[in-house]
Amino acid sequence: MTWIRACTVQQIPEDEGFRLATTPPIAVFRAAGEFFATGDTCTHDEFSLAEGYLDGDVVECPLHMARFCLRTGKVLAPPAVVPLETYPVRLDGDDLYIDVPEHSGDR
Ligand code: FES
Repeated sequence: MTWIRACTVQQIPEDEGFRLATTPPIAVFRAAGEFFATGDTCTHDEFSLAEGYLDGDVVECPLHMARFCLRTGKVLAPPAVVPLETYPVRLDGDDLYIDVPEHSGDR
């Protein structure tokens, strides 16, 4: 795992997501006063969860309304059945760092 600088705190408004062009793409969320990082692509089909609707620490996919816990990646509502990857997030001043697998990169 490798810590990468994802973005600044100011780049993510409260209750919104930010898509990182990593491989695979990662979504960073500012939700419920905290920051979370998960896989960006909905596990049901191809859709960016950074575009999703936030409800506390839950993201809802706009395409077919699957819901995922941002803390654990767990599926909370169908049609998705496969959980999301989650990644550790660290705040250093105004910068957000994410601990990603070695093969991620090319932001
Ligand atoms: S693509 Fe997300 S619920 Fe279908």
